[in-house]
Amino acid sequence: MENSDIVLEMKNISKVFPGVRALSNVDFTLRKGEIHTLMGENGAGKSTLIKVLTGVYKIDEGTIILRGNKIKISSTEEAQSHGISTVYQEVNLCANLTVAENIYIGREPMKHGSIDWKKMNTDADKLLQERLNLKIDVKKALNNYSVAVQQMVAIARAVDISKGILILDEPTSSLDEKEVKQLFKIMKKFREEGMSIIFVTHFLDQVYEVSDKLTVLRNGELVGTYDADKLPRIELVSKMIGKDYSEIEKNAKTKKEVVNKERENFIKTDKFGRIGTISPFDIEIKKGEILGFAGLLGSGRSECARAIFGIDKATSGKITINGKSYSYIYPQKAIEEGIGFCPEDRKVEGIVGDLTIRENIILALQARKGIFKYIPMKKQQEISQKYIDLLRIKTPSMEQKISNLSGGNQQKVILARWLATEPELLILDEPTRGIDIGAKNEITELILKLAKQGMTILFISSELPEVVKCCDRVIVLRDRNVIGELSGDEIEEGNIMKTIAGGATA
Ligand SMILES: Nc1ncnc2c1ncn2[C@@H]1O[C@H](COP(=O)(O)OP(=O)(O)O)[C@@H](O)[C@H]1O
Ligand SMILES: [Mg+2]
Repeated sequence: MENSDIVLEMKNISKVFPGVRALSNVDFTLRKGEIHTLMGENGAGKSTLIKVLTGVYKIDEGTIILRGNKIKISSTEEAQSHGISTVYQEVNLCANLTVAENIYIGREPMKHGSIDWKKMNTDADKLLQERLNLKIDVKKALNNYSVAVQQMVAIARAVDISKGILILDEPTSSLDEKEVKQLFKIMKKFREEGMSIIFVTHFLDQVYEVSDKLTVLRNGELVGTYDADKLPRIELVSKMIGKDYSEIEKNAKTKKEVVNKERENFIKTDKFGRIGTISPFDIEIKKGEILGFAGLLGSGRSECARAIFGIDKATSGKITINGKSYSYIYPQKAIEEGIGFCPEDRKVEGIVGDLTIRENIILALQARKGIFKYIPMKKQQEISQKYIDLLRIKTPSMEQKISNLSGGNQQKVILARWLATEPELLILDEPTRGIDIGAKNEITELILKLAKQGMTILFISSELPEVVKCCDRVIVLRDRNVIGELSGDEIEEGNIMKTIAGGATA
């Protein structure tokens, strides 16, 4: 392709937030009339790349060249003046203003020193009909319309501002299938008109339908840019998770027994789900098994677990726990039913930094007993000591503040908290993330040991070797749907990746 086709070049872009390199030396090239999709797991840096382009964040290093001219972008206004406009993941409109006002806010047509409402409404109507095939009453407040329509309005605004570049950051995450189709139709129409579109998604099923080019990011780094029709799905997944599929294929298969299918269910779900978070799913968790959830970051693994524990209230179907059915659950109920949950982000949801190790360990047990049945200090100390010993938590004393411990030891304290409640089912969401390799190993060994003693475990991990090592059965999720199940011998890395990728593997 000719170089004159290049509309936008981003070179060596770096952006650091406190404690995280969101982008390191990323290159990105956009050509005329292409739909260029940014891919990567949650946290890969997709939104940050968009936000430095649209002036939400300033780049620390790098160059941005627009149609041959080096430009500086230090505010959203500046980005808009260059014709760069975006529709964010979170629709950024004012729900109580009219459709027309939303489209022209900040750039209202004026007449004799005041806003020309008539022109604004006519223009808005024309814009929506001509460019988005959408006929709605533009004088009505935006909140009269569905999220899909609101998004179309946001796109109309962006298209009207943009001069040839449109950015869509996960516009499909809250749309249903039909609405996605409609959006894709519009995107293709824009492409035909010569517009260049940067599209962000982590939904595998949607990528190939519209993309010409794919740029994959991982942990803030560029993995590469590819022609969509030359990158098989399995390779795309490999690149997103940073694993070479062909290498994995060569690895020896593990020998695994299929766990007894006759085992009783501890949990069974029927079309259990939550609108906008996780599609209705039917799964079983059998007593005494280690069930794994595998999938890309953002595939819906945590969302599924959160619905089961009731952190997020389910909106459809039912869940049966130990023979009792509920249409939704909440954490207190889940705990009463014998479920424990170690959340993914222990900093936010798990540890209480100001409390001691003992207090952190006792927390869930106290909650289970109810706050009026205070656990005597002596008992608290006994329990704490038991788990400090069992999990080999490295601390001079149980009266240390938990914030003084290393990540791995903090994770063990959270684990201890739930073990102390002696749960029948323990849900572990990424229990080994961010801890050193030795501690990782101890935790996976512990999981195996607990299961041997009869505990049921739901294990979520992005580390495929851990999933293979621990699980009796693996449920695979993609794009917020449960899409497959592997058991026994089928549980090996290559198979899991193939299932995650779906579609053709060649
Ligand atoms: N405003 C911010 N402050 C601190 N960290 C941030 C901020 N925005 C993003 N990050 C971090 O930068 C990384 C990349 O995030 P993001 O670009 O949102 O990823 P993606 O859109 O691919 O899911 C993540 O680790 C995220 O936590
Ligand atoms: Mg994002």
